[in-house]
Formats: sequence, structure tokens, C-alpha cells
Amino acid sequence: MTTILAIETSCDETAVAIVKKRQVLSSIVTSQIETHRQYGGVVPEVASRQHLELLGEAIAQSLNQANLHPSQLDGIAATCTPGLVGSLLVGVMAAKTLALVHEKPFLGVHHLEGHLYASYLSDPSLEPPFLCLLVSGGHTSLIHVKTCGDYQTLGQTRDDAAGEAFDKVARLLKLGYPGGPEIDRLAQQGNPDAFPLPEGRVKLPNGGIHPYDASYSGLKTAVMRLVQKLEASESDLPVADLAASFQKTVVRSLVKRTIRCALDYNLSTIAVGGGVAANRGLRTALTAAAEAEGLRVLFPPMSYCTDNAAMIGCAASEHLSRGHTSPLTLGVRSRLPV
Ligand code: KG4
Ligand code: ZN
Repeated sequence: MTTILAIETSCDETAVAIVKKRQVLSSIVTSQIETHRQYGGVVPEVASRQHLELLGEAIAQSLNQANLHPSQLDGIAATCTPGLVGSLLVGVMAAKTLALVHEKPFLGVHHLEGHLYASYLSDPSLEPPFLCLLVSGGHTSLIHVKTCGDYQTLGQTRDDAAGEAFDKVARLLKLGYPGGPEIDRLAQQGNPDAFPLPEGRVKLPNGGIHPYDASYSGLKTAVMRLVQKLEASESDLPVADLAASFQKTVVRSLVKRTIRCALDYNLSTIAVGGGVAANRGLRTALTAAAEAEGLRVLFPPMSYCTDNAAMIGCAASEHLSRGHTSPLTLGVRSRLPV
């Protein structure tokens, strides 16, 4: 059984977890959201400094909660790509140092691999092949997980990621940052049919429609125009109806493409990952659509949808059990396809 201490510092969460195979022994997530909120988004320089201040305590707490000494670990992992370079450096350097001092293997993990495997935390018996719908603030992709380390992207967004669209529309509705959870909450109170909105489609060179790729920038522009029109009429903005209508349109686009892709590629299991996997509208609609087609759909536990270190530990554990490790010379990259 592999026991991994994992560190995640790619953006604005300072997270540390200890994962034994697919079970979480401890998970600490310290969000910097309050600090970044005043700027309306993440400020990279501020994020790196906060990771530096918070990480040591988070590591100590994580070991404490799991009641383990570093000598009892089988490996130390950290997210090495993609993300804010200064932030990644803090986590990777801490992991390398721990690995060196305690003579343990070091593993650099791709952040998206963490999201791919987050559903192992809800069903430890899950094994590839499966289709992963990865919906985060930076990515919206349909990925065929063939086996650990062998991934094929079958579809993706051509512009904004789904989470980014949620955040941008939330800003239009003056809901603050991050907007996804707020839209999700308001959508529960609104009428999803109040405003028909256009679902972005991606054209193929032959004039047809791409079956799996999506586009969200047109939808965001449509919401912006609608908001301008409603504001000009000087009535109060029907924020809940707008949130519900927007969410319904994004969810419909995600569900349609995911089900079509799973059926076309004969993949009977769909695992969802990334912050938008926490969206209640998506969870309900995708579960119902999958059931109707005889497909199985898995979502990570709510707390492991958004960024966390447990999913990084899960991915690292898959690699370590196959003998994969990283050299101590490993660098960080702001971008790298999975
Ligand atoms: O996976 P994540 O924590 O970070 C990235 O790797 O990007 O995803 C963050 C994104 C944000 O855009 C946030 O607004 C969105 O996930 N998000 C949600 C919900 N919770 C977080 N979007 C819709 N509904 C939610 N409940
Ligand atoms: Zn993420």
C-alpha cells in the first residue's frame, strides 16, 4: 500500500494531503480567496508569498492529523504543472526537500491528472478505461483515460473554460469571485427558462458541427448584452433567473457532448473532475442523462472537486505503484498538455 504526502500549490489554494492508496488520511486546504477577492482575481506574486507562509504549517498539520512521521511515507508528491510558476516552485521545492531529507521518492504530478483521478476518492474500485469530463477554471475537456499515463483528449473548449465562463458571468451579475458557487446557489431559486440563450457550437471545415468541442465565449457575450438591455430598462436585474438560464445552457452543452462521446467511444463509465463538478445542476442533469443511456457516472466527493492535494496524492499513488518517480532536477511548467 503506497502512502503519499502530496502538496498542491498551483494557484490560490495551499493544500497538503496524505493518501494511502485511494483513501484520504488527512487533507488540509487553506484557501487564499479572501486575500485575492479584493483584486477580483488571483494575483500571482501575492499567491506565491502566501504559499510560502502557509505551507510549512499545512504539512505539519497534515502529518499530525494522519498521525504519521515522514519516515512512514512511501513518497512525496507535488503539482509541477500547469499553474502559476512562482506558486508551483514553492510546493515542488518543499516536496523535494522532504524527499531528500527523508530519503523518499519524489513525484511531480500534472494538476489535471489529479482532477482525472479525483473520482477514485468516491469509488476506490474505479479503473480505466473511462471517459473523464474535466471541467475546471482553466480547462474543459473530454479525456479518454486508457490507463495510468495514457490519455487522449477527444474534445475541448475552443475559448473559455466552463469555470471561467461561470466566473465571467458572475462578474457581469456583480456576484464577486469565484462566481461558480454563487451562480449555482442562485440558479436554485431562478427560472432556467426565463431567458433562452445560445449554446456555442464549433463548426467543422466541412460545415458540420464538432460533436465534442464546445465554445462558451458567445454565451458570455449574449449574457452581457442581455444584462445591458435589462439595466437600460432600469428594472432590478433578475439575477436568479439569469443565473439559472446561463447554468442550464452550459450544463446542456456539457451533458450532450459527454454522453455522445461516451457512447461513440464505447466507454460505459464517466468520471467528472474539476471545480465545476461541484455544480448541482451538472450533477443532477448528467446523472439522469447517463442513467437513461445505461452509463455509469461518478463525481468526486464535493470537497475534492475544487483544488485539493488529496487528488494529487491519488494520481501520485497510481504512478508510484507502477514504479514511476521523478528526478530531483524536475522543473515546473506554466503550461503542459496532460
Ligand atoms: O478545479 P478548480 O478548483 O481550479 C482549477 O484548476 O481551475 O476550479 C475552479 C473553478 C472556478 O472557475 C469556479 O468558479 C468553479 O470551478 N466552480 C464552480 C462551482 N464550484 C467551483 N462552478 C460552478 N458551480 C459550482 N458549484
Ligand atoms: Zn484544478
